[in-house]
Amino acid sequence: MNAFTYRDGSLHAENVPLADIAARFGTPCYVYSRAALTAAWRSFDAAFSGREHLVCYAVKANPSLGVLDVFARLGSGFDIVSGGELARVLAAGGDPRKVVFSGVGKTAADMRAALEAGILCFNVESAPELELLDRVAGGMGVVAPVSLRVNPDVDAKTHPYIATGLKENKFGVAYDDALAVYRRAATLPHLRIEGVDCHIGSQLTETDPFVAALERVLALVDALQRDGIAVHHLDLGGGLGIRYREETPPPVADYARALLAALGARPQKLLFEPGRLLTGNAGVLLSEILYLKLGSERNFAVVDAAMNDLMRPALYDAWHEVLPLRAGNAPVRDYDVVGPVCESGDFLARGRPLAVAAGDLVALASAGAYGMSMASNYNTRPRAAEVMVDGDRMHLIRERETVAQLIANERRLPD
Ligand code: LLP
Repeated sequence: MNAFTYRDGSLHAENVPLADIAARFGTPCYVYSRAALTAAWRSFDAAFSGREHLVCYAVKANPSLGVLDVFARLGSGFDIVSGGELARVLAAGGDPRKVVFSGVGKTAADMRAALEAGILCFNVESAPELELLDRVAGGMGVVAPVSLRVNPDVDAKTHPYIATGLKENKFGVAYDDALAVYRRAATLPHLRIEGVDCHIGSQLTETDPFVAALERVLALVDALQRDGIAVHHLDLGGGLGIRYREETPPPVADYARALLAALGARPQKLLFEPGRLLTGNAGVLLSEILYLKLGSERNFAVVDAAMNDLMRPALYDAWHEVLPLRAGNAPVRDYDVVGPVCESGDFLARGRPLAVAAGDLVALASAGAYGMSMASNYNTRPRAAEVMVDGDRMHLIRERETVAQLIANERRLPD
C-alpha cells in the first residue's frame, strides 16, 4: 500500500498532512505509517501461510522502538546483529524466543546476553565463532541453538556494497567448508544444531538468485542428513527489494511461489529476515528548503536534511523521490537537493525538476529502511525526530536529539 498520498493538493501520511507534522515537530523528521508497516508485514507473512514459518524482521533496517513495537504486536520475530539490537527488541516488547542472531563479529558479551535472553538461534558465520559460542554456552551451563550461515556463492545482482553471497564477501562459511564445520558443530557439547541459514544480499529485484541459493542450501541439507545431522529450519535471509524509482521487484507472492516450488515437500520450518521490504516504503524524510542557489552549471536546493540523516544517496548513489508537500507556482527548474554538510558528496537527489521556493517543505520518499538506522552526527548535527502516524493520529517515537546530548559524554582535558 502507499500510505503517502496527495489529498486536496497536500501530501499526507495516512490521514495526517505532513505539513502538520513539520509544524509540530520540526524538520528534518522521519515519518512512518503504521498502516504501511502492518500491511507489508502481513503480506509477507500471508505469502507463506501454507507452511510453518517465522518472519524475523531485520532490525538494522529500522531499529526504532516504535517500529519494532508495531512488528512485535503482530507476533513478528526479529533478526539482530548486535547486543544493542537485542536490547531494543526486548525494550519494544519483542519475544526473545523468536530472535535470530546474525553477524560476522559477535563478541562473547553479545553471546552471553543472547543466551540469557533465550533466543531462537545463533546464525554462526565462521568456525572460530562456533568454538567461542560453545565455550561461552558451556561457561553458562547452557546449550546454544545454532545454524551456520553458509555462503552459497551466488550473484545477487545488486549494488556491490550490499551483495553478501559471493565467495569474495566476508559473510558466512564458505559453501565447500560447510559440511566439515557442521560435523565439528555436532561434536561440540554446548551447541545444538537447529538449521541452515543464508542471506545473499539486499535490494534484489529478481527471484532467480534466491532460488539458486535455496538449491545450494537444500543440497547441503541432504548431505547433512546423510551424515546423520538433522536440520529443523531453513533461514532464507532477507533481501527482497522495493521500488524506489523504476525497479520492478517481484511481488512477495511470486517470490514465495518460486521458493515453495523449489522446496517441494521438505519438512523444515522456514525463517525469513526481511528488512527493507517491511519498512522502506513505509517512511519518508521531511525536510525544509533553506535556500535556493541558482547557478550557470547547476541549481541547488539547500535543505535542512543532509547525508548524516539519509546516507544512501552519498554511499550507494541511491535514488529517493523528492515530493514537495504542496504544488507551488515557482518556475520548474532542475535542482540538486543538497544538505548543509561540508562535502560535495552531501546530496540527497540530483537533477530533479522541481517547482519550489525557499521555505517549502519536501519529503524524501522510500526512506523508511536504512535511513534513520544509518544516520550519524557528522558535522555535530543532532539526529532527526521520528514520528509514527496511525490513522489520524501522530505519535512522536523519537525526540530530536540535542547538541547537549551529543557532547554529554565528552570531556575536556584536566587542568
Ligand atoms: N539478514 C541479514 C543477515 C542481513 O545482513 C540483512 C541486511 C538482512 C537480513 C535484511 O536485508 P533486507 O531485507 O533489508 O534487504 N544499507 C544498505 C542495505 C544493507 C543491508 C545489510 N544487510 C542500503 O541502504 O541499501
